[in-house]
Amino acid sequence: MTEPTVFKRTIMCGDLRQSHVGDHVVLNGWIQKRRDLGGLIFCDLRDRTGIVQIIFNEDVPKELFEKANRLRSEFVVGVKGIVKERQSKNKDMKTGDVEIFVEELIIYSESETPPIYVKDDDEVSENLRLKYRYLDLRKNRMQRNLEFRHRIAKITRGFFDAEGFIEVETPTLIKPTPEGARDYLVPSRVNQGLFYALPQSPQMFKQILMVAGTDRYYQIVKCFRDEDLRADRQPEFTQIDLEMSFVDVNDVIEVQEKYLKHLFQELMGIEIKTPFPRLTYDEALERYGSDKPDTRFGFELKSLTPFVKESTFPVFADAIVSGGEVRAININGYSNRFSRKDLDKLQEEAKAYGAKGVLWIRVGDQDITSSFNKFFSKDELWELANVFDAKADDLILIVAGEKKVVFDSLGFLRREIAGRLDLLDDMKYNLLWVVDFPLYEYDQEAGRFTAMHHPFTSPRIEDIPLMDTDPSKVRAMAYDIVLNGVELGGGSIRIHNKELQKKMFKTLGLSEEEANNKFGFLLDAFRYGTPPHGGLAYGLDRLVMLLCGEKSIREVIAFPKNQAAVCMLSEAPSVATKEQLVELGICRLKDKK
Ligand code: AMO
Repeated sequence: MTEPTVFKRTIMCGDLRQSHVGDHVVLNGWIQKRRDLGGLIFCDLRDRTGIVQIIFNEDVPKELFEKANRLRSEFVVGVKGIVKERQSKNKDMKTGDVEIFVEELIIYSESETPPIYVKDDDEVSENLRLKYRYLDLRKNRMQRNLEFRHRIAKITRGFFDAEGFIEVETPTLIKPTPEGARDYLVPSRVNQGLFYALPQSPQMFKQILMVAGTDRYYQIVKCFRDEDLRADRQPEFTQIDLEMSFVDVNDVIEVQEKYLKHLFQELMGIEIKTPFPRLTYDEALERYGSDKPDTRFGFELKSLTPFVKESTFPVFADAIVSGGEVRAININGYSNRFSRKDLDKLQEEAKAYGAKGVLWIRVGDQDITSSFNKFFSKDELWELANVFDAKADDLILIVAGEKKVVFDSLGFLRREIAGRLDLLDDMKYNLLWVVDFPLYEYDQEAGRFTAMHHPFTSPRIEDIPLMDTDPSKVRAMAYDIVLNGVELGGGSIRIHNKELQKKMFKTLGLSEEEANNKFGFLLDAFRYGTPPHGGLAYGLDRLVMLLCGEKSIREVIAFPKNQAAVCMLSEAPSVATKEQLVELGICRLKDKK
């Protein structure tokens, strides 16, 4: 009789339990490893759900035993066998109570010696993992991440559908609008010399959908940004994007809190408390030195400026004279965990954020000492320490300088130190809103204000008069959702009033012509009846990363780019042929010379 080409599976490897003892089962999967104990061959058989032990003993026909002897790691096989209770149970495996005595084996395909091991704790370089991603993705952890991502997308679609949102696809070849990050450009063959851009987000199209009467839109959508890469940034990433008509800030926030509550409950059975805390942008910076604060631990910033105003110590005096600040954090109760060398190292790291230095005060049982003893008496040091109600074993870290540098440096130190002290509890999910972002930020290079979010973000109504007099003080109806110190998403209520939009462009230094060139199609749409509207977009990759307890979004994207924006698997980007370039009417500078 000829062998069937595929065994029809009756159960997945990871699902086998004690209750299956005595069952005849059919499994398909990959050989994780083979151990040969003379008369017995043990293999671990793996599929997406997990691993189970299979056994070939001497009682099986000689032909089967010889076939089993050929098995090596990553061979793909099908087996039929009987489930038996394991003599020596393995408590570390879900399937550790049972093993399968094999009666039939089919080898579907063999594998060369794999260049990376298929095991979660294999420590090879990330580039190697990405080059052999199909092997890397066989790992239990990676399969779990992919499944988690799938479940999040499924729950998300179910939720927004139930709330009356409609998923609408927006185009991927769009008009370049050089705003924010750099666009990825796509040359047009039919219209030579012209370019499409890949969307950085569906922002303008989703607003047009509101003009079109769609009322509630959402989309799980790929976005593209040509920016410097980090652990939480990819050139192509996915947003859960949404927009709603006839809403104010509270309406948008309310739906999002309901969504996140539902997601945590459905996905992990975790009850999260709503409403989430709301911090204004100013408060977030003042207390945490960051507009995406991690509130799982303390170490909040306090200002020392009022206490050192009169000081002649140059570090403080210079900062204050030039309009800067002196602020500090108290690493309360952990002074003994930081040697002089550790503090020097932290100081070096804080320099990347612009800090000229990091001063410290250590509080002992009776005594107090500092890195600036020469300039401050013990009494003066106690006065500073008292701002924090400092106690024995407290360590106060101080940064003086320009406000942004002080916030950035202390924000970095607080999180970095919490990490080193193991205070970042992965099981805690601290969600919060940061609201009232500034409408503008000043671009030193361009010498003008730019939109902090985008030019369609509405100012708070009571701040509109400040748009002419003091733009830096105008607050936007913009909000970010933050989870454990990561910006998960952001959005705003948009401008739907023509006059206000004109004013906005004017303050951004955009002439009517320039505005029309860039956003004409949106502005045209606004002429024909625009509902008040607003929305938000989450970074899906970041959401999945945090819920999977991963440190990089590359761990939750099946085929990510590496730090150099290269796909190690397919070797994209790569050269285009001369013929392709000619067809597109493109000539490389290199060839022109
Ligand atoms: P924003 O630019 O804040 O807003 O983006 C929304 C969210 O998308 C995620 N994100 C990224 N994730 C991975 N890699 C990247 N390079 C990347 N860039 C952004 C972040 C971020 O919070 N259209 C507006 C939203 C709106 O106003 O409705 C927008 O795109 O999690």
